[in-house]
Amino acid sequence: MSTDHLNIEFALHQIPERLLDESKNPKPHVHSIEKYNELYQESISNPKEFWGRCAKEFLHWHKPFETVLSGGFEHGDISWFQEGQLNASYNCVDRHAIKDPDKVAIIYEADEPGQDRKITYGQLYRDVCRFANVLKHHGLKKGDTVAIYMPMVPEAVIAFLACARLGAVHSVVFAGFSSEALRDRIKDADSKIVITADEGCRGGKIIHTKKIVDDALKECPNVKRVFVFRRTGSDVPFNPSRDLWWHEEIEKQRPYCPPEIVNAEDPLFILYTSGSTGKPKGVLHTVAGYLLGAAVTFKYVFDYHEGDVHGCMADIGWITGHTYIIYGPLINGATTVLFESTPIYPSPSRYWETVSKHKITQFYTAPTAIRLLRKYGREHVDGHDLSSLRLIGSVGEPIQPEAWEWYNEVVGRNECAIIDTYWQTETGSIIISPFPGAVMTKAGSATVPSFGIDLVILDPLTGQEIKETKAEGVLAIRQPWPSIARTVYNNHDLYLRTYLHRYKGYYFTGDGVGRDSDGYYWIRGRVDDVINVSGHRLSTAEIEAALIIHPSVAEAAVIGVHDDLTGQAVHAFTTLKPHCESTDLGELTLQVRKVIGSFATPKKIYVVKDLPKTRSGKIMRRVLRKVVDGETDQLGDLSTLSNPTLIGPLIEAVKNS
Ligand code: WTA
Repeated sequence: MSTDHLNIEFALHQIPERLLDESKNPKPHVHSIEKYNELYQESISNPKEFWGRCAKEFLHWHKPFETVLSGGFEHGDISWFQEGQLNASYNCVDRHAIKDPDKVAIIYEADEPGQDRKITYGQLYRDVCRFANVLKHHGLKKGDTVAIYMPMVPEAVIAFLACARLGAVHSVVFAGFSSEALRDRIKDADSKIVITADEGCRGGKIIHTKKIVDDALKECPNVKRVFVFRRTGSDVPFNPSRDLWWHEEIEKQRPYCPPEIVNAEDPLFILYTSGSTGKPKGVLHTVAGYLLGAAVTFKYVFDYHEGDVHGCMADIGWITGHTYIIYGPLINGATTVLFESTPIYPSPSRYWETVSKHKITQFYTAPTAIRLLRKYGREHVDGHDLSSLRLIGSVGEPIQPEAWEWYNEVVGRNECAIIDTYWQTETGSIIISPFPGAVMTKAGSATVPSFGIDLVILDPLTGQEIKETKAEGVLAIRQPWPSIARTVYNNHDLYLRTYLHRYKGYYFTGDGVGRDSDGYYWIRGRVDDVINVSGHRLSTAEIEAALIIHPSVAEAAVIGVHDDLTGQAVHAFTTLKPHCESTDLGELTLQVRKVIGSFATPKKIYVVKDLPKTRSGKIMRRVLRKVVDGETDQLGDLSTLSNPTLIGPLIEAVKNS
């Protein structure tokens, strides 16, 4: 790995004065670097004391816990707050509805401007109870899994919370996935109920949500009930023996449903994510630890104060939506924005119109959106009243210093805290990020660890910790934190192998990282076969598996290639079976869209005669990467390549594409 960047001096950005001006803003919870250091040190040296205190402060327990932490990385039997009992929906809704029923819980910013809607905690309580009763009436029990395949509407949040109310496990599938991908996830999690909508609306386009569900369910005989929320009211296929309308069912139920009290370590949800293998993994999070991680980071990293309006632009189908649209804000009794549209619909000012209309105080999006808006130009930002903003955040992929500076200057007007937050589906909540009132920033660095995150950099080859401050290696964590995923659904062995046993004694993130002389962390990106396209996590193996299903394809190798807009783009190399040379490449593209979804579409497909392989038959993706990057003079050691004569034609094929 290169260490050149370690010699570059990255300027420190001071904490914006506005943030420290108590006459204008609430005093940040973590208001100095000393305070951060004190809390961080305590969280690492005395995690039981630290998290035990937080668990009492942030969560309502129906039965108190006695043991803060037991188990660990060795056996993958991590357990937090073991004897404790609680209910997630009670914690997110009831206690706030009792205290302040008229407080706004959700601001729904619909796809078409002007159709926004506000839902108070009181209303949310009644809606969640009603829908929980519907699910209960149709036989849903504690521990059952429910698939949620929904657009960004408040009813999706209600569906999450209704499952949690009954102690059921939600498995949310991002609504951009294809019917085949949805089918595989329904089957893997053994979901018997699906919650969906007639159609979705995004960026002025209609998504045929129900039709996709119907296609998926052709091969899911175990799904007995489908609840359909009416989003557009269009005529959609409806199977009366299986399907039920949301609006008709809730009419039949009363708005009171007692919460099912569950154990701290009972599952709250499964969320599928991509890894090195072709098959997506069902990452499982448990109730108390996950909620606590979400709640604590929401309060301290986003510096949440009463009266704030939190605007996280992610989709609820990904972990960012789970943690920072739904659970983190609602546990804290905050007002959260649910944004159904895109950054450029109906114009590239949409985000800023939304910020000024709802007086958003914390705004959170992904680098891919920042790059896109930067390309459109600052004229779409200027002139909008962004004075409510105190903090702007970024998540999902490394943010380039240029994009960071633009975000800071144009959106933040140099007076907002800017937080680049690093985390993963598996970590449940943010693990590296500046604390807005305490940590000075550097453009492009996620900066410092969150509370309880005992970060280390390992030498990737020896697995030894690199103790020097300046370091380069792979990112790992030395002790468990509450919101770490507990298993991969139905595959604990894969969980152990992927995260805990790769480097014994540590949780392994799969990301490369650097640490500069100030101790700041710089995420370099994945060191495994995971690629990141517009913040969507994809595995090369998954895309290859999709391509190989096509009858003409003999072999496929997929790589991630740098892309100015999407971060990385998918490039696929294929060899075709004999007599298939005339295959239309459009068919191969469609194949990927069909098996995964349009967000995985290859930007380029190269048909080649042969793929570079080692003598033992492993595809040498490194060679493919170098050829696409035009670095054909740096192909490295080719002594293990089984057929060196293919290099010339390979370079030609890429050139001519
Ligand atoms: C990448 C998203 C650099 C990283 C919350 C990680 C980032 C993967 C950042 C997890 C960031 C996420 N800087 N890289 N601020 N945030 N990543 O599971 O490679 O969808 O391993 O979770 O995204 O993606 P996931």
